[in-house]
Amino acid sequence: MLGSLLLACSRSPLARRAVSGFPPTRTVVDRFVAGEATEDAVAATRRLTGSGLAVTIDHLGEEVRDTGAAIGATKAYVALLEALRPLGLGPRAEVSVKLSAVGQALDHAMALDHARQICAAARDCGSTVTLDMEDHTTVDSTLEVLRTLREDFPETGVALQAYLFRTEADCRDLAGSRVRLVKGAYREPASVAHQSKSDVDRAYVRCLRVLMAGTGYPMVATHDDRLIAIAELLADRHGRGRDGYELQMLYGIRADKQAALAEAGSRVRVYVPYGDDWYGYFVRRLAERPANVAFFLRALRGK
Ligand code: FDA
Repeated sequence: MLGSLLLACSRSPLARRAVSGFPPTRTVVDRFVAGEATEDAVAATRRLTGSGLAVTIDHLGEEVRDTGAAIGATKAYVALLEALRPLGLGPRAEVSVKLSAVGQALDHAMALDHARQICAAARDCGSTVTLDMEDHTTVDSTLEVLRTLREDFPETGVALQAYLFRTEADCRDLAGSRVRLVKGAYREPASVAHQSKSDVDRAYVRCLRVLMAGTGYPMVATHDDRLIAIAELLADRHGRGRDGYELQMLYGIRADKQAALAEAGSRVRVYVPYGDDWYGYFVRRLAERPANVAFFLRALRGK
């Protein structure tokens, strides 16, 4: 109930203005977001890669409604990748791109062109791109952009959301490539997505089975211990070594677990968001867990 309300707020301009303008919010945002500038993302990358983790960096922003903002987001990614290149961080640091941030809602061809520029900059620094997945209305368009990008950049990955009914079939189509499997973070209707946690978890396992049996590179993105254990078992069953798949978690969430998994020899990648347009991302993180809302409310009360 609270989760649904928060997910509705994640798209409300009124709630955005109220929350973004409230000074104590910043303390809580800093737990989930690495900072606002390119240098902040680079600093977080150096710190995390220095402790044995890999990263995927997200320049925050989504649903841009004008060409200038889409160009701005593209330039931010290119500048970030150029900053990583002399430091030799490309191979341990990839980028995650929301197509809606580079113009998907305005013009499909523009979003493709911007994504292509980011893929080219990533390749120049020995890095890769993974396309994030947004609400269900964008999935076909995102997969179409992916297909075209992969003609020149076959290393490009994509996130698929286990809560969508269609995803098991999408996993079959993409089981030969880099796929990040997530549960799904948007408010979706019962006509297209599982609604209960147990149904989503079961769907996640079905998708994992498909990806682990395939020839691609599964990226298991979850903080859920049970699903991580199942992924490890399935990887083992399919003869995948520790370098045949990876685990992924979000910046600021279960950092101890991230370090422990890496210490034990797993490949672990942290999703590092940065930038000033943090509202939608932040509210989705609150919606995932009541404890995060309590943390937020305590900060608002100055405690
Ligand atoms: P679940 O929410 O069931 O949590 C399992 C356990 O993890 C909880 O019991 C708790 O212990 C811990 N936990 C989970 N969330 C927490 C939080 N916010 N704070 C503290 N503890 C928490 N979604 C999407 O729709 N499109 C995308 O492209 C992506 N990309 C993406 C990349 C990466 C690397 C990750 C890890 C996640 C995404 N997501 C995403 C988000 C994803 O869909 C999902 O909303 C979150 O990962 C939370 O789901 P879990 O699988 O962690 O399980």
